[in-house]
Amino acid sequence: MPDDQAGAVSVGELWRRTTNDIGDRAAARWLCEVATGLSGSEFATALDEPVTEAMVAHLDAMLARRSTGEPLQYVLGQWSFRHLDLAIDRRVLIPRPETEEVAGVAIELTAAAVEQRGSAVVADLGTGSGAIGLSVAYESPLGAVEIWLTDRDPDALDVARANLAGLGQRGAGVRLALGSWFDALPDHEVFDVIVANPPYVADGSAEVEPDVVAWEPAGALFAGPDGLDHVRTLAAGVLDRLRPGGWVVIEIGARQGPAVTELLEHHGAVDVAIRRDAAGLDRIALGRRPDIG
Ligand SMILES: C[S@@+](CC[C@H](N)C(=O)[O-])C[C@H]1O[C@@H](n2cnc3c(N)ncnc32)[C@H](O)[C@@H]1O
Repeated sequence: MPDDQAGAVSVGELWRRTTNDIGDRAAARWLCEVATGLSGSEFATALDEPVTEAMVAHLDAMLARRSTGEPLQYVLGQWSFRHLDLAIDRRVLIPRPETEEVAGVAIELTAAAVEQRGSAVVADLGTGSGAIGLSVAYESPLGAVEIWLTDRDPDALDVARANLAGLGQRGAGVRLALGSWFDALPDHEVFDVIVANPPYVADGSAEVEPDVVAWEPAGALFAGPDGLDHVRTLAAGVLDRLRPGGWVVIEIGARQGPAVTELLEHHGAVDVAIRRDAAGLDRIALGRRPDIG
């Protein structure tokens, strides 16, 4: 839209025109919310208000990026995950709905540990935007949980740090650490829950959508010929870092359930189970360090 028309256009009209342009009313609303700086009920009550030139310029810049195929989440610069609005950009994987379920399992197991012992220590390895670990922090009893967010990519950790800043008091127990898997964790600590959504796509897999490969960080996706390189490392080392009775929760690919069950049991985990996501696909592997030993 030419900038000189901005004053004559209302927020509602901007939304209607954007919907016509991109053919998606919900996405158009999110784009207009970011462009106008109005969200939720503020946006809904401002539909008759005039937009400014700066708002229109911001929207045009976002639409230009979207037209190149850049994912909506990166263009918006934010995406919701459970109860959080996370800052998102190309340094991190876009958090997925199935990962909300992985976080839910970690939150339940953390709550059980707090119930039992009064407090819990948790690690989210390969945290990316911080989606899983920050959700655990946000949804756990205040002051009861120490949670370590780690990544080997310093750029990803910067995004997690920015998202931590948005948690306020709820983020008080969160620690950030750079390094590969367990190397990032303090030597002295044992954990009640270790959760990870590691890269688990087989190198060169044709099942990944071209847009994902083109836009999302390769270091967050690919993990060797069968996609299990990182899961092997996690399964081999995790029991040593868990408190007796502590749980590991790993997001996996839909066809990796049997192999990951075998890996976790081989390394001594008990009560190993594979849970399905809302789409009915194997997605969450969990297992426990035996209570004794
Ligand atoms: C699939 S993404 C998951 C990101 C985020 N946890 C989520 O669920 O949206 C995997 C993350 O693991 C990180 N990663 C890859 N290799 C790693 C390693 N060796 N040690 C620690 N983190 C690693 C990547 O940088 C990336 O942020």
